[in-house]
Amino acid sequence: MKQIGTSSALKNQLEMIRGKSTGLVPTMGALHAGHILLVEKSVGDNDITIVSIFVNPTQFNDKRDLEKYPRTLNSDLEILSEMLGKDDMVFTPAADDIYNNEKIPGIDLGHLDKIMEGEHRPGHFMGVVRIVNILFELCLPQRAYFGRKDFQQLAVIKSLVKQSGIKTNIIECPIVREANGLAMSSRNSRLLPEMREKAGIIYRTLEKYREQALTVDITALKNNIITEINAQKGFKVEYFEIVDDIELKPLVSVTDINNESHYTGCIAVYAGEVRLIDNIKFSF
Ligand code: PAF
Repeated sequence: MKQIGTSSALKNQLEMIRGKSTGLVPTMGALHAGHILLVEKSVGDNDITIVSIFVNPTQFNDKRDLEKYPRTLNSDLEILSEMLGKDDMVFTPAADDIYNNEKIPGIDLGHLDKIMEGEHRPGHFMGVVRIVNILFELCLPQRAYFGRKDFQQLAVIKSLVKQSGIKTNIIECPIVREANGLAMSSRNSRLLPEMREKAGIIYRTLEKYREQALTVDITALKNNIITEINAQKGFKVEYFEIVDDIELKPLVSVTDINNESHYTGCIAVYAGEVRLIDNIKFSF
């Protein structure tokens, strides 16, 4: 694989592989099994895979979160060198190279940016849109790979692609979980071992109440999930919502269920100081 540090070097490399299919896996590094699945999928689908590793400052609404974000470039490169072929690329740019006279996409995220992550992390999704748009313009990939763990991010990126007429196919990949059910995330490495083990409660609780979804009123179901997770010492739910997969409109009552729609329960939880998100599909 080739490690490429600047966008001009990346453009040169891309010139040399013109005509080949390319898959992009955008990451912020600190790679785990969830990322590995995205890379494997891209390698299987495309002639060339480009993995970007860039801790994107514009998507952090909290400076301390940006500072504490795990950075493990050497081990990330080691992992990727085992998976990628000689013509595949790892793009590791600096911030002033990426944010250099960029044209910010004039799109309206509307409601997608107003609830859940959008409400609790103001500016976060516009930062994601900026970096993803820059990477798409640079790499012009046929396909780009994102994990369903960042469910709302996926909806935002699909909206960016639709509104901007970008030709890239967005490939959605399943959540990978630790043995106790905790969704894989780069942030998990910041959890103390005891909290990391206890954090399995998040997924277990979502699963338990998903099974009761048709028999319990939605408000009661939400309260039960929040109360049960909050009862675990050190855990505090920030939000739990059941939303449709496209517009992310919250479901208020079972009588509002539309048989054409798919629904996902989305949660954000503080485990000590570490903010975790997860989600689960609901079938009504
Ligand atoms: O999901 C992530 O890791 C980031 O939000 C992304 C898509 C790489 C943009 O920085």
